[in-house]
Amino acid sequence: MRQGLKTSFALGSAALLALGLSTGTVKAADPVTLNLGWATPLESDYGILATKFEELAEKYSNGTVDVKLRCCAQIATEDDAFKALQLGTVDAYFISQNNVSPHWPMMDVFVLPYIFQNTDHLLKVSNGPVGQKIRDQLQKDTGVHLLTFGGPGYRDMFNSRRAVNSIDDLKGLKLRVPKNQVMLSTFEAFGAEPVPLAWSETPTALQTKTIDGGDNGTSVIKEMKFFEFAKHLIILDHFVGFAPVFASDRFMNKLDEDQRAAVMRAAKEAGEYHTEVKLEEIEGIRSWLANEGGMEVTRPDRAPFIAAAQEVQQKFAAERGAEFKAIVDEIQAAAE
Ligand code: PAF
Repeated sequence: MRQGLKTSFALGSAALLALGLSTGTVKAADPVTLNLGWATPLESDYGILATKFEELAEKYSNGTVDVKLRCCAQIATEDDAFKALQLGTVDAYFISQNNVSPHWPMMDVFVLPYIFQNTDHLLKVSNGPVGQKIRDQLQKDTGVHLLTFGGPGYRDMFNSRRAVNSIDDLKGLKLRVPKNQVMLSTFEAFGAEPVPLAWSETPTALQTKTIDGGDNGTSVIKEMKFFEFAKHLIILDHFVGFAPVFASDRFMNKLDEDQRAAVMRAAKEAGEYHTEVKLEEIEGIRSWLANEGGMEVTRPDRAPFIAAAQEVQQKFAAERGAEFKAIVDEIQAAAE
């Protein structure tokens, strides 16, 4: 009998240990809620990453981190989100890299047009030492944590005026650009008339024809129903659009060591999952836009766009200082 009691006590301890609990003074992690926001619809590609992250973060933290999904600019607009992260009034938010640069210009190394030669190159860079340098430096300079770059895709152009078969066809088109200097200069170099506009104002500007078009991640064009207003889709792969998830230092400091490890692991794995999904779905969405969406799709010769883009790359590498140029050089070297 005594032996039996001993055994059951030993099993109890083992079970506790297996659950990750100490048999001494047990201190359960305080439950934490993580409000994860973004500006586009739930069904857009940010929603795919967010849903996976929610599942994994809750699983790896044994339910002590409760992730709430806040799509559609419920908790902040994308243009305001970075400041809110710095202030700690938002826990976590998806911000495309071009909307981070007005607050932290170094991020523009990932905005430069045609900076990545192909998908392998961009994955090697974002998952490698350059990606790590960006994360570390961002945190040091701004206090904001980059949880994952998320899956990469490309921004496709659209407009309501005409088919674009060559770079000359962009002349005079009023195309919305996010409030980002690199994007502005790029669209100027392509011969268009860029109109810098916050995302929150873009759908109305398109509907009221204040702008002729713009560019966005392919799934955003579909989920925002931009194909109803702009019938011409132009595929150039000129800008890469990641799905970066940022978290405030205030939120990260609420986590104990295990919760922090759970959140970081969930973000990494959700980012990997998202990369697979996004790379696989992009051509399917483009076909959907052409067929169900009724868009006319063109794929103009890229050579003149790439030549114009190289001048933009050189201009910013020269203007932004040695540190910026060193990272641009490192990105370019990674393609070799
Ligand atoms: O175009 C932008 O400003 C961004 O790409 C968007 C659509 C807000 C998603 O991050």
